[in-house]
Amino acid sequence: MSKNAVRVLVTGAAGQIGYALVPMVARGAMLGPDQPVILHMLDIEPAAEALNGVKMELIDAAFPLLKDVIATTDVVEACTGVDIAVMVGGFPRKEGMERKDVMSKNVSIYKAQASALEKHANTNCKVLVVANPANTNALILKEFAPSIPEKNITCLTRLDHNRALGQISERLDIQVSDVKNVIIWGNHSSTQYPDVSHVTVTSSDGQKPARELIADDQWLRTEFIKTVQQRGAAIIKARKLSSALSAASSACDHIRDWVLGTPKGTWVSMGVYSDGSYGIPSGLIYSFPVTCEKGEWSIVQGLKINEFSRTKMDATANELIEEKSLAYSCLN
Ligand code: NAD
Ligand code: LMR
Repeated sequence: MSKNAVRVLVTGAAGQIGYALVPMVARGAMLGPDQPVILHMLDIEPAAEALNGVKMELIDAAFPLLKDVIATTDVVEACTGVDIAVMVGGFPRKEGMERKDVMSKNVSIYKAQASALEKHANTNCKVLVVANPANTNALILKEFAPSIPEKNITCLTRLDHNRALGQISERLDIQVSDVKNVIIWGNHSSTQYPDVSHVTVTSSDGQKPARELIADDQWLRTEFIKTVQQRGAAIIKARKLSSALSAASSACDHIRDWVLGTPKGTWVSMGVYSDGSYGIPSGLIYSFPVTCEKGEWSIVQGLKINEFSRTKMDATANELIEEKSLAYSCLN
């Protein structure tokens, strides 16, 4: 018997990430090859015609898993009955800007859409915030939707996680699928801390720590970290637009692992509400290493943190504290 369709909301669906993301969802890249989906696509009035064009293309692509498409500029219609909400709607940064520079435009959107989700989405709706500043938008959404369980509100740092895996595989000239357990700590910003302390690499003679294979510790402590932190800016410089296909693909990875579970022995990075683990203050959406099982994420506990890591983890937490107060000042 075929499964009931899952309703997936994509906000900002007429934008560039939306355009890359909706066909991935409709093909089963997010929820699996046997899971029918109904897409709810939201955008704003000036993008209504383009949004309708995306709907036309989805129909033309004849995706077998796609049971229906709702394309709307009405936030209530968009949020009604959704099981998964991928919040991409907002304004991207341009060359020379930091992600927090789009704060004033984007946080008010997240405050308004929090209420719509709270009132109209399914009770156990899982929320992924992609729009920048992603951690702080997710925090605002959480604070203005108090009846949504806090464990259901997350932000995307999987793109940074995947970027870090990509850099290690390039450096060692190995397949990216042979690298695992990198960690992105903190903010999806240039203060994030990509941590390789626990990364392992699969080789013909078993699993090895990446640190043993990459003898150049200086590269790991400087160039590697900087490349991952600045990758979003490098893409903007090259494309004159921010990342889209990699962001859409990582959003699918994030939801897929959350819903269907992480492979045994593997963790991923997700921006989640801090419970104080690793001394990170609660009241922030901070990226941690997590494993997922039965639709629930848990922060990986007991990892050793050295002084180098501690300093970097605290610096990115401090930036999130500053962003939080800036966000509230934008809302007042
Ligand atoms: P884009 O400008 O191409 O698309 C954004 C879409 O959102 C537009 O169609 C716009 O009309 C729509 N929109 C604006 N306000 C809205 C509202 N109130 N409700 C619904 N839709 C609304 O931008 P993009 O390149 O798709 O990027 C979207 C966001 O994702 C940006 O904030 C960008 O910085 C962020 N981003 C985050 C990550 C990450 O890893 N977290 C990666 C890439 C991009
Ligand atoms: C990214 O990391 O590519 C996105 O957050 C877009 C940006 O502004 O860097």
